[in-house]
Amino acid sequence: MQRTRDFHYRSVHDRDAFWREEASRIHWETPFESVLDFSRPPFAKWFVGGRTNLCYNAVDRWLPTQADKPALIWVSTEVDREQVYTRQDVFEEVNAAAAMLRELGVGRGDRVLLYMPMVPEAVFTMLACARIGAVHSVVFGGFASVNLAQRIDDAAPKVVVCTDGGSRAGKVVPYKPLLDRALGLAKSPPASVVVFDRGLAPFEPVAGRDLDYASLRERHRGARVPVEWLESSEPSYILYTSGTTGRPKGVQRDTGGYAVALASSMEYLFDGRPGDTYFCTSDIGWVVGHSYIVYGPLIGGQATILYEGTPVRPDGAILWKLVEQFGVNTLFSAPTAVRVLKRQDPALLRKHDLSTLRAVYLAGEPLDEPTAQWISEGLGKPIIDNYWQTESGWPILSAQPGVEKVPTRFGSPSFPVYGFDARIVSESNGEDLGPDQKGVVAIVPPLPPGAMSTIWGDDERFVQTYFTSIPGRQVYSTFDWGLVDADGYWFILGRTDDVINVAGHRLGTREIEESVNSHNGIAECAVVGVADPLKGQVAMAFAVLKNPAGADTPEGAKQLEGDIMRLVEEQLGAVARPARIRFVGALPKTRSGKVLRRAIVAVCEARDPGDLTTMEDPNALEQIKESLQ
Ligand code: PRX
Repeated sequence: MQRTRDFHYRSVHDRDAFWREEASRIHWETPFESVLDFSRPPFAKWFVGGRTNLCYNAVDRWLPTQADKPALIWVSTEVDREQVYTRQDVFEEVNAAAAMLRELGVGRGDRVLLYMPMVPEAVFTMLACARIGAVHSVVFGGFASVNLAQRIDDAAPKVVVCTDGGSRAGKVVPYKPLLDRALGLAKSPPASVVVFDRGLAPFEPVAGRDLDYASLRERHRGARVPVEWLESSEPSYILYTSGTTGRPKGVQRDTGGYAVALASSMEYLFDGRPGDTYFCTSDIGWVVGHSYIVYGPLIGGQATILYEGTPVRPDGAILWKLVEQFGVNTLFSAPTAVRVLKRQDPALLRKHDLSTLRAVYLAGEPLDEPTAQWISEGLGKPIIDNYWQTESGWPILSAQPGVEKVPTRFGSPSFPVYGFDARIVSESNGEDLGPDQKGVVAIVPPLPPGAMSTIWGDDERFVQTYFTSIPGRQVYSTFDWGLVDADGYWFILGRTDDVINVAGHRLGTREIEESVNSHNGIAECAVVGVADPLKGQVAMAFAVLKNPAGADTPEGAKQLEGDIMRLVEEQLGAVARPARIRFVGALPKTRSGKVLRRAIVAVCEARDPGDLTTMEDPNALEQIKESLQ
């Protein structure tokens, strides 16, 4: 473990030299003048004065050596298609998409919002934005109109690119009507919407606004769009994520720092090299998709698999079939996917030749020990649990086999990744805690290259949200509890805030509460995350009715529950729909009116609710208990 420690030590104590070396992994059109400007903490600017471009590093740079090698492999088990794009093909498509955006008036610094499923055109559009210096903001396809409208209002995109629809487990999911509804809600909707029509969900184009992706692409076939060289700190994208408030935060990423961080991670974390094939099962709507479906592998000269489908269709061997078919070297997925596979015949794990596969990386939620053990034994491959966040952009804690091969431990995402000065600190005074002491996982700034630069349009909120929650010390809070054991292995012990994690999807309970409250029968509600064997957590809602008679009968309650679920699904999307909504006379609160969420969660998980001396009305918790029966 010494090598990993020394490597990490150098990354934070000899920062300039360390990152100067790493920066040589990418192409700089203009060299940077200094490695780091940290004159205005906690804001960090990496590779100051350097000019580069994500699209150039992902595409053009590899043309001399890899023009005819696969770069983007699209597999859809939803629409039964497979298509392999070489680096040259990607170059062509990205140039056409860039020309299309330019025709619509998109230039450097303008935002483009994408609302698209896992289709190659989504990746081409992201790269096209990067090429012309536009800032993309991809909204996860599982989100619905209210979520979308909020993001449109915050990002103020010049153009939205969407598809007619997607498909999930064989069922068509229309995207266009949700977008139309969101544009109706938005305060200043963009002038143009480009629709990539897959022929899945018929729609009526809006005259004068909606444009057809395929026709525009045809018109710009063969176009060559020059690369816009961005200063390293200029934004590459905005990705919205949930926190404690009902308003999502636009995580803003830079350009140069991100490219360097990802390029280095391809070697040190994934032990990979150019020419490899990388398969990440996440979605382009999440940070894992941005970093390890699109930018990381492509910048690292690897082929990336874009998979539209689930891990169990047509059967539970599909992931392994693809590993064999495309000679996958690195697989990146989420614990939930493995828990789903665990319900299938274990023989499926051995059905295909997995000899090319080096390791399986899992992230996004806690990896429980039985799940880790099952997959590790079933595949006979190293399983690497890695911990990070939308904000960090790449792993904070992980084994780093490209630095040193150190044994992993089930339940632990191993050690801090180079660049992250991670600490376990006391929530009450900010001091570093010793071995086996539970505290908040914090990062001493500057945050490394690749981490968020700020919250889009709101520097103040960035500082307030992330750097003031630990008293007495300006450190970045991850809002996760953790501890380090005596041997230096880190463990994550759940969130310190009201964020929940449903099947690897990060959701804000406050946003769900606002949606439930928007039903006119509801007086107030509390949404909490409750442990679930498959999804990790599910959302449970407890609601107080304006008129209790509305749920007097079991049928009435069921009907109302269904209505509210549909409402949440319509506003936020199916991922945010509570698993259950229960009606109670009152919510358990403290005397000062704060909802006792932890006590509610404890009751739902049949645990001891702990100290209830501050509770206003002891009967309220009883009602929660009864409502579960
Ligand atoms: O609570 C932690 C949990 O997911 C949160 C971040 O979610 P998101 O912003 O969607 O980014 C996911 C990037 C992988 C964290 O604050 N989390 C993520 N990975 C792990 C985890 N919890 C435990 N173990 C992990 N490996």
